[in-house]
Amino acid sequence: MTNFLQVAQTNIPSGFIDLGAGEPQLDLLPLDMLGEAASLRFAQGEREFLQYGVEQGDGYFRAALAKFLSPRYGCEVSHEDLFTTTGISSTLDLLCTLYTQPGDTVFVEEPTYFLALRIFADHGLRVISISTDVDGLDLDELSQALKEHQPKFVYVIPSFQNPSGHTLPPERRTRLIELAQKHNFLIIADEVYQFLGYTQSPPASFGTHIDSGHVIALGSFSKILAPGLRLGWLHSNPDVIQRIVTCGVLDSAGGLNPFTSSIVRGLIEKGDLDKNIANLVGELGRRMQAMDEAIKTHLPQVKYTSPHGGYFFWLQAPGVDTQELQKRAKEFQVGLRPGIRFSSRNGLTDHFRLSISHYGVDDIEEGILRLKKCIVV
Ligand SMILES: Cc1ncc(COP(=O)(O)O)c(C=O)c1O
Repeated sequence: MTNFLQVAQTNIPSGFIDLGAGEPQLDLLPLDMLGEAASLRFAQGEREFLQYGVEQGDGYFRAALAKFLSPRYGCEVSHEDLFTTTGISSTLDLLCTLYTQPGDTVFVEEPTYFLALRIFADHGLRVISISTDVDGLDLDELSQALKEHQPKFVYVIPSFQNPSGHTLPPERRTRLIELAQKHNFLIIADEVYQFLGYTQSPPASFGTHIDSGHVIALGSFSKILAPGLRLGWLHSNPDVIQRIVTCGVLDSAGGLNPFTSSIVRGLIEKGDLDKNIANLVGELGRRMQAMDEAIKTHLPQVKYTSPHGGYFFWLQAPGVDTQELQKRAKEFQVGLRPGIRFSSRNGLTDHFRLSISHYGVDDIEEGILRLKKCIVV
């Protein structure tokens, strides 16, 4: 049957609280702010943003973005080092196209963002997963794996990781870069949650290390404005930028998303992106605290570390098969995501992921109460 609906997540039955869902709640998307920015752009009466764009992306948008990023990164970001993207997912796909061949090896974290694994599978890549702990990637295991494998890249989510919520500390970042230089692989840093710190800020973006020659940092407006914009950025050194802007897709299509980026440019210049992030940090911070307290009170048997930002809680219920738990939870009208979905080794079967992005505080508390009824450890 034809699906005429606009929104991807449509099958949550009414009354069901899907605490596994990672999409932002519709109420979090700034309709008025974007409406105003779009009206202003149209009122200017210029048609350039409706034309094919320059390959690297509109320079005015990149300049506004660089000005926004610089104080947050604690260093001068140049618009020359930024490339406008249609979000992280499609950029991962483009990077696989340009930097890998089927059969090449790439390293990922265990656990990792399961949909990135699908993209790597589309390119016929051989995925090797490296264990993580509460501080992210285990660099000793990575060093060991480098004795056997030559990865094209290591894909990491260094800040408030999906699903674990963990953040890679500065020392591990430095060591990862040293290893990339020594063993000649790229670090693809997916920083989609970089600006969503509630009780702690993460270390500076991997974008502050592009001079190493081995870093590609990916940002996205999906979690700080709206996923429907399909807009993001890539931050890297001139060699990488040059490789991308000269590829066939861009030669044919021109730069990505000139229309949306020129609307978002106005929004950034007005200071509304800062305002929106401050609103999100306030609201999501309250949700994170509520979920943390509810888990501590009602699910004392699960093990976890309280996250400091991002969307996710990563919980371990020792001895519980969380795929079975998911089925049982459905009967109690509550959803979760079983750990096995985030594993490239078919492991993590006693872990599960919960999210704060899709429901307000009341539903979060009610959802945890429902989980209490069905979780038996
Ligand atoms: C770690 C991670 N990377 C990428 C994405 C998707 O990013 P985008 O919307 O920019 O394609 C998500 C969305 O949930 C995510 O959690």
